[in-house]
Amino acid sequence: MAERAEPQPVDPARKPVGPSTLAVHGGEVRPKPAHSLTTPIVQTATYTFANTQELKDHFDGKIERVEYGRYGNPTQRVAELKLAALEGAGECLLFASGMGAMTTALFAMLSRGTHVVVTDDSYRRTRQFLNQTLSRYGIEVSTVPAGDYDALEDAIRPTTRVLVSESPTNPYNRILDLERFAAIGRRHRVKTVIDATFATPYNQRPLEWGVDVVVHSATKYLGGHNDLLAGAVLGSAELVGAIRGLQGITGAIVDPFAAYLLVRGLKTFALRMERQNANAQAVAEFLAGHPRIAAVHYESCPSRWPATSTRPRGWSTHAPSPTSRPPSAGSRA
Ligand SMILES: Cc1ncc(COP(=O)(O)O)c(C=O)c1O
Repeated sequence: MAERAEPQPVDPARKPVGPSTLAVHGGEVRPKPAHSLTTPIVQTATYTFANTQELKDHFDGKIERVEYGRYGNPTQRVAELKLAALEGAGECLLFASGMGAMTTALFAMLSRGTHVVVTDDSYRRTRQFLNQTLSRYGIEVSTVPAGDYDALEDAIRPTTRVLVSESPTNPYNRILDLERFAAIGRRHRVKTVIDATFATPYNQRPLEWGVDVVVHSATKYLGGHNDLLAGAVLGSAELVGAIRGLQGITGAIVDPFAAYLLVRGLKTFALRMERQNANAQAVAEFLAGHPRIAAVHYESCPSRWPATSTRPRGWSTHAPSPTSRPPSAGSRA
Protein backbone atom coordinates (compact mmCIF):
# COMPACT_ATOMS: atom_id res chain seq x y z
CA MET A 1 0.00 0.00 0.00
CA ALA A 2 1.40 3.39 -0.95
CA GLU A 3 2.25 5.83 1.80
CA ARG A 4 -0.62 8.27 2.20
CA ALA A 5 0.68 11.75 1.43
CA GLU A 6 -0.67 14.70 3.36
CA PRO A 7 -3.65 16.43 1.73
CA GLN A 8 -2.87 19.18 -0.69
CA PRO A 9 -1.99 22.53 0.94
CA VAL A 10 -4.94 24.30 -0.67
CA ASP A 11 -8.04 24.21 1.55
CA PRO A 12 -11.14 24.39 -0.68
CA ALA A 13 -13.28 25.35 2.36
CA ARG A 14 -11.35 28.61 2.83
CA LYS A 15 -11.65 30.01 -0.68
CA PRO A 16 -12.89 28.83 -4.05
CA VAL A 17 -10.12 26.87 -5.70
CA GLY A 18 -10.15 26.64 -9.48
CA PRO A 19 -8.75 23.96 -11.75
CA SER A 20 -5.61 25.98 -12.37
CA THR A 21 -4.64 26.09 -8.69
CA LEU A 22 -5.59 22.45 -8.17
CA ALA A 23 -3.60 21.39 -11.22
CA VAL A 24 -0.49 23.15 -9.90
CA HIS A 25 -0.75 22.54 -6.16
CA GLY A 26 -3.28 19.74 -5.68
CA GLY A 27 -1.92 16.56 -4.11
CA GLU A 28 1.53 18.00 -3.41
CA VAL A 29 3.07 17.87 0.05
CA ARG A 30 5.17 20.66 1.56
CA PRO A 31 8.05 20.50 2.08
CA LYS A 32 8.98 17.85 -0.43
CA PRO A 33 11.83 15.38 0.12
CA ALA A 34 15.31 17.00 -0.07
CA HIS A 35 13.57 20.40 -0.26
CA SER A 36 12.87 19.72 -3.91
CA LEU A 37 10.51 22.19 -5.56
CA THR A 38 9.27 19.53 -7.96
CA THR A 39 7.83 16.12 -7.12
CA PRO A 40 10.75 13.65 -7.01
CA ILE A 41 10.69 10.44 -9.08
CA VAL A 42 10.93 7.64 -6.53
CA GLN A 43 12.47 5.16 -8.97
CA THR A 44 12.37 2.03 -6.88
CA ALA A 45 10.76 -1.38 -7.17
CA THR A 46 10.74 -2.07 -3.46
CA TYR A 47 11.24 -0.22 -0.15
CA THR A 48 13.34 -0.73 2.97
CA PHE A 49 12.06 -1.28 6.49
CA ALA A 50 14.01 -0.05 9.52
CA ASN A 51 13.74 -3.40 11.27
CA THR A 52 11.62 -6.53 11.59
CA GLN A 53 9.25 -4.79 14.01
CA GLU A 54 8.39 -2.16 11.40
CA LEU A 55 7.77 -4.88 8.85
CA LYS A 56 5.54 -6.74 11.33
CA ASP A 57 3.64 -3.57 12.26
CA HIS A 58 3.01 -2.93 8.58
CA PHE A 59 1.67 -6.43 7.91
CA ASP A 60 -0.40 -6.25 11.10
CA GLY A 61 -2.00 -3.11 9.68
CA LYS A 62 -0.69 -0.89 12.51
CA ILE A 63 1.22 1.41 10.17
CA GLU A 64 0.43 2.32 6.61
CA ARG A 65 3.44 2.81 4.37
CA VAL A 66 4.93 1.86 1.02
CA GLU A 67 6.01 -1.74 0.72
CA TYR A 68 6.48 -2.94 -2.87
CA GLY A 69 6.16 -1.14 -6.20
CA ARG A 70 3.15 -3.10 -7.41
CA TYR A 71 1.15 -1.74 -4.48
CA GLY A 72 2.05 1.89 -4.99
CA ASN A 73 4.77 4.49 -5.29
CA PRO A 74 5.06 7.99 -3.74
CA THR A 75 5.29 9.71 -7.16
CA GLN A 76 2.19 7.83 -8.28
CA ARG A 77 0.44 8.93 -5.09
CA VAL A 78 1.03 12.62 -5.78
CA ALA A 79 -0.45 12.22 -9.27
CA GLU A 80 -3.42 10.36 -7.79
CA LEU A 81 -4.12 13.05 -5.19
CA LYS A 82 -3.82 15.78 -7.81
CA LEU A 83 -6.31 14.05 -10.11
CA ALA A 84 -8.66 13.36 -7.16
CA ALA A 85 -8.57 17.08 -6.29
CA LEU A 86 -9.33 18.06 -9.90
CA GLU A 87 -12.14 15.54 -10.26
CA GLY A 88 -13.63 16.18 -6.81
CA ALA A 89 -13.20 12.47 -6.03
CA GLY A 90 -12.73 10.73 -2.71
CA GLU A 91 -10.00 8.56 -4.18
CA CYS A 92 -8.02 8.03 -7.37
CA LEU A 93 -6.02 5.07 -8.60
CA LEU A 94 -3.49 5.37 -11.39
CA PHE A 95 -2.80 2.67 -13.97
CA ALA A 96 -0.28 1.87 -16.70
CA SER A 97 -2.81 2.96 -19.36
CA GLY A 98 -6.42 3.97 -19.84
CA MET A 99 -7.24 0.40 -20.84
CA GLY A 100 -5.49 -0.89 -17.72
CA ALA A 101 -7.83 1.38 -15.73
CA MET A 102 -11.01 0.37 -17.55
CA THR A 103 -10.33 -3.38 -17.65
CA THR A 104 -9.25 -3.61 -13.99
CA ALA A 105 -12.23 -1.53 -12.82
CA LEU A 106 -14.67 -3.73 -14.75
CA PHE A 107 -13.01 -6.95 -13.60
CA ALA A 108 -13.31 -5.71 -10.01
CA MET A 109 -16.98 -4.75 -10.36
CA LEU A 110 -18.22 -7.81 -12.28
CA SER A 111 -18.15 -11.54 -11.73
CA ARG A 112 -19.46 -14.71 -13.37
CA GLY A 113 -23.20 -14.63 -13.93
CA THR A 114 -23.45 -10.84 -13.85
CA HIS A 115 -24.44 -8.54 -16.67
CA VAL A 116 -23.16 -5.17 -17.92
CA VAL A 117 -24.73 -2.62 -20.28
CA VAL A 118 -22.49 -0.53 -22.54
CA THR A 119 -23.40 2.26 -24.96
CA ASP A 120 -22.61 1.59 -28.60
CA ASP A 121 -20.47 4.62 -29.40
CA SER A 122 -17.54 3.80 -27.11
CA TYR A 123 -13.82 3.27 -27.59
CA ARG A 124 -13.59 0.04 -29.60
CA ARG A 125 -11.05 -1.59 -27.26
CA THR A 126 -13.47 -1.15 -24.36
CA ARG A 127 -16.25 -2.75 -26.41
CA GLN A 128 -13.85 -5.53 -27.46
CA PHE A 129 -12.92 -6.18 -23.84
CA LEU A 130 -16.58 -6.40 -22.88
CA ASN A 131 -17.78 -8.48 -25.82
CA GLN A 132 -14.77 -10.68 -26.49
CA THR A 133 -12.98 -11.03 -23.13
CA LEU A 134 -15.53 -10.68 -20.34
CA SER A 135 -18.00 -12.87 -22.22
CA ARG A 136 -15.44 -15.73 -21.96
CA TYR A 137 -15.72 -15.48 -18.19
CA GLY A 138 -19.50 -15.86 -18.03
CA ILE A 139 -20.29 -12.14 -17.92
CA GLU A 140 -23.11 -11.07 -20.22
CA VAL A 141 -23.01 -7.81 -22.15
CA SER A 142 -25.80 -5.74 -23.74
CA THR A 143 -25.08 -2.84 -26.07
CA VAL A 144 -27.54 0.06 -26.37
CA PRO A 145 -27.41 3.25 -28.47
CA ALA A 146 -25.60 6.10 -26.71
CA GLY A 147 -28.22 8.66 -25.71
CA ASP A 148 -31.18 6.25 -25.77
CA TYR A 149 -32.09 6.23 -22.07
CA ASP A 150 -35.20 4.07 -22.53
CA ALA A 151 -33.11 1.36 -24.21
CA LEU A 152 -30.54 1.69 -21.42
CA GLU A 153 -33.15 1.18 -18.73
CA ASP A 154 -34.90 -1.63 -20.65
CA ALA A 155 -31.60 -3.51 -20.95
CA ILE A 156 -31.17 -3.72 -17.16
CA ARG A 157 -31.73 -7.21 -15.72
CA PRO A 158 -31.69 -8.55 -12.17
CA THR A 159 -28.07 -9.60 -12.76
CA THR A 160 -26.93 -6.20 -14.08
CA ARG A 161 -24.15 -4.68 -11.97
CA VAL A 162 -22.66 -1.92 -14.14
CA LEU A 163 -23.70 0.62 -16.80
CA VAL A 164 -20.72 1.83 -18.83
CA SER A 165 -20.54 4.78 -21.19
CA GLU A 166 -18.28 7.49 -22.43
CA SER A 167 -19.07 11.17 -22.41
CA PRO A 168 -18.05 12.59 -24.82
CA THR A 169 -17.94 9.36 -26.78
CA ASN A 170 -15.11 8.19 -29.00
CA PRO A 171 -15.36 8.60 -31.94
CA TYR A 172 -18.53 10.73 -32.37
CA ASN A 173 -18.21 13.09 -29.39
CA ARG A 174 -21.73 12.49 -28.13
CA ILE A 175 -22.46 14.05 -24.77
CA LEU A 176 -24.51 12.07 -22.25
CA ASP A 177 -27.04 13.52 -19.84
CA LEU A 178 -24.99 12.39 -16.85
CA GLU A 179 -27.68 13.17 -14.29
CA ARG A 180 -30.15 10.96 -16.15
CA PHE A 181 -27.58 8.20 -16.67
CA ALA A 182 -26.67 8.20 -12.97
CA ALA A 183 -30.33 8.30 -11.88
CA ILE A 184 -31.09 5.18 -13.95
CA GLY A 185 -28.21 3.40 -12.24
CA ARG A 186 -29.35 4.49 -8.79
CA ARG A 187 -32.97 3.50 -9.46
CA HIS A 188 -31.86 -0.05 -10.25
CA ARG A 189 -28.99 -0.21 -7.70
CA VAL A 190 -26.49 -0.57 -10.53
CA LYS A 191 -23.09 1.16 -10.53
CA THR A 192 -22.44 3.71 -13.27
CA VAL A 193 -19.07 4.15 -14.98
CA ILE A 194 -18.20 7.07 -17.27
CA ASP A 195 -15.05 7.24 -19.37
CA ALA A 196 -14.55 11.02 -19.41
CA THR A 197 -11.22 11.02 -21.26
CA PHE A 198 -12.27 13.53 -23.93
CA ALA A 199 -13.81 16.04 -21.50
CA THR A 200 -11.31 15.90 -18.61
CA PRO A 201 -12.34 17.31 -15.21
CA TYR A 202 -11.84 20.79 -16.64
CA ASN A 203 -15.00 20.45 -18.72
CA GLN A 204 -17.04 17.83 -16.91
CA ARG A 205 -17.01 16.24 -13.45
CA PRO A 206 -19.34 13.21 -13.66
CA LEU A 207 -19.16 12.42 -9.92
CA GLU A 208 -20.96 15.70 -9.19
CA TRP A 209 -23.89 14.42 -11.26
CA GLY A 210 -24.15 11.17 -9.32
CA VAL A 211 -21.98 8.89 -11.45
CA ASP A 212 -20.14 6.29 -9.32
CA VAL A 213 -16.86 5.80 -11.16
CA VAL A 214 -14.93 7.97 -13.61
CA VAL A 215 -12.25 6.52 -15.88
CA HIS A 216 -9.66 8.50 -17.81
CA SER A 217 -7.01 7.72 -20.34
CA ALA A 218 -4.43 10.10 -18.85
CA THR A 219 -2.44 9.49 -22.02
CA LYS A 220 -4.51 12.24 -23.68
CA TYR A 221 -5.32 15.70 -22.29
CA LEU A 222 -4.27 14.98 -18.69
CA GLY A 223 -0.68 14.10 -19.67
CA GLY A 224 -0.91 16.60 -22.47
CA HIS A 225 2.45 16.04 -24.17
CA ASN A 226 2.16 12.60 -25.85
CA ASP A 227 5.08 11.35 -23.79
CA LEU A 228 3.36 9.00 -21.34
CA LEU A 229 0.77 6.25 -21.09
CA ALA A 230 -1.43 6.22 -17.99
CA GLY A 231 -5.00 5.72 -16.88
CA ALA A 232 -7.03 6.66 -13.84
CA VAL A 233 -10.08 5.41 -11.94
CA LEU A 234 -11.82 7.87 -9.61
CA GLY A 235 -14.70 7.56 -7.20
CA SER A 236 -15.43 6.90 -3.55
CA ALA A 237 -12.67 5.51 -1.34
CA GLU A 238 -14.69 2.31 -0.95
CA LEU A 239 -15.16 1.62 -4.67
CA VAL A 240 -11.64 2.63 -5.69
CA GLY A 241 -10.17 0.70 -2.73
CA ALA A 242 -11.68 -2.54 -4.07
CA ILE A 243 -10.18 -1.83 -7.50
CA ARG A 244 -6.78 -1.05 -5.90
CA GLY A 245 -6.84 -4.50 -4.30
CA LEU A 246 -7.23 -6.14 -7.72
CA GLN A 247 -4.56 -3.91 -9.28
CA GLY A 248 -2.11 -5.22 -6.67
CA ILE A 249 -2.75 -8.69 -8.10
CA THR A 250 -3.03 -8.01 -11.83
CA GLY A 251 -0.25 -5.41 -11.78
CA ALA A 252 -1.26 -2.79 -14.36
CA ILE A 253 0.60 -0.15 -12.35
CA VAL A 254 2.00 3.11 -13.65
CA ASP A 255 5.77 3.53 -13.80
CA PRO A 256 7.17 6.19 -11.39
CA PHE A 257 8.63 8.14 -14.30
CA ALA A 258 5.29 8.19 -16.15
CA ALA A 259 3.65 9.34 -12.89
CA TYR A 260 6.20 12.16 -12.68
CA LEU A 261 5.52 13.17 -16.30
CA LEU A 262 1.81 13.23 -15.49
CA VAL A 263 2.36 15.49 -12.47
CA ARG A 264 4.50 17.76 -14.63
CA GLY A 265 2.04 17.73 -17.52
CA LEU A 266 -0.84 18.59 -15.20
CA LYS A 267 0.88 21.82 -14.12
CA THR A 268 -0.27 23.38 -17.40
CA PHE A 269 -3.54 21.45 -17.56
CA ALA A 270 -5.89 24.41 -17.06
CA LEU A 271 -3.99 26.61 -19.51
CA ARG A 272 -3.97 23.91 -22.15
CA MET A 273 -7.65 23.09 -21.71
CA GLU A 274 -8.65 26.73 -21.90
CA ARG A 275 -6.83 27.10 -25.23
CA GLN A 276 -8.10 23.76 -26.55
CA ASN A 277 -11.68 24.71 -25.68
CA ALA A 278 -11.25 28.05 -27.44
CA ASN A 279 -9.79 26.32 -30.51
CA ALA A 280 -12.61 23.74 -30.54
CA GLN A 281 -15.18 26.51 -30.24
CA ALA A 282 -13.59 28.40 -33.15
CA VAL A 283 -13.56 25.24 -35.32
CA ALA A 284 -17.19 24.48 -34.40
CA GLU A 285 -18.28 28.04 -35.25
CA PHE A 286 -16.42 27.88 -38.57
CA LEU A 287 -18.05 24.55 -39.45
CA ALA A 288 -21.50 25.68 -38.33
CA GLY A 289 -21.31 28.70 -40.62
CA HIS A 290 -19.84 26.89 -43.62
CA PRO A 291 -22.49 26.00 -46.21
CA ARG A 292 -20.69 22.94 -47.54
CA ILE A 293 -19.78 21.54 -44.13
CA ALA A 294 -23.30 22.13 -42.85
CA ALA A 295 -24.52 19.84 -45.64
CA VAL A 296 -22.39 16.90 -44.53
CA HIS A 297 -24.42 13.88 -43.47
CA TYR A 298 -22.83 11.88 -40.69
CA GLU A 299 -23.70 8.37 -41.82
CA SER A 300 -23.38 6.63 -38.48
CA CYS A 301 -24.27 9.60 -36.29
CA PRO A 302 -28.09 9.42 -36.24
CA SER A 303 -30.20 12.54 -36.01
CA ARG A 304 -31.57 11.65 -32.56
CA TRP A 305 -28.96 14.15 -31.37
CA PRO A 306 -30.77 17.41 -31.99
CA ALA A 307 -28.92 20.65 -32.57
CA THR A 308 -28.69 22.57 -29.31
CA SER A 309 -26.86 25.61 -28.13
CA THR A 310 -27.38 24.84 -24.46
CA ARG A 311 -24.75 23.43 -22.18
CA PRO A 312 -25.47 19.75 -21.45
CA ARG A 313 -26.02 18.79 -17.83
CA GLY A 314 -22.74 17.68 -16.38
CA TRP A 315 -20.73 20.15 -18.43
CA SER A 316 -18.63 22.38 -16.23
CA THR A 317 -18.80 26.16 -16.16
CA HIS A 318 -15.18 26.39 -17.36
CA ALA A 319 -16.18 25.09 -20.73
CA PRO A 320 -17.83 26.80 -23.69
CA SER A 321 -20.95 24.98 -24.87
CA PRO A 322 -19.98 22.18 -27.23
CA THR A 323 -21.75 22.02 -30.56
CA SER A 324 -24.11 19.19 -31.38
CA ARG A 325 -22.24 18.24 -34.52
CA PRO A 326 -18.83 16.63 -34.04
CA PRO A 327 -16.12 18.77 -35.65
CA SER A 328 -14.35 15.61 -36.85
CA ALA A 329 -14.69 11.87 -36.70
CA GLY A 330 -12.66 12.01 -33.48
CA SER A 331 -9.64 10.07 -32.32
CA ARG A 332 -9.31 6.42 -33.11
CA ALA A 333 -6.15 5.85 -31.07
C1 LIG B 1 -12.12 7.34 -24.73
C2 LIG B 1 -10.92 6.47 -24.53
N1 LIG B 1 -10.86 5.68 -23.45
C3 LIG B 1 -9.80 4.88 -23.21
C4 LIG B 1 -8.74 4.84 -24.10
C5 LIG B 1 -7.58 3.93 -23.81
O1 LIG B 1 -6.52 4.67 -23.27
P1 LIG B 1 -5.00 4.21 -23.33
O2 LIG B 1 -4.56 4.36 -24.76
O3 LIG B 1 -4.31 5.15 -22.39
O4 LIG B 1 -4.96 2.78 -22.89
C6 LIG B 1 -8.75 5.65 -25.23
C7 LIG B 1 -7.63 5.61 -26.21
O5 LIG B 1 -7.69 6.17 -27.26
C8 LIG B 1 -9.88 6.49 -25.46
O6 LIG B 1 -9.96 7.27 -26.53
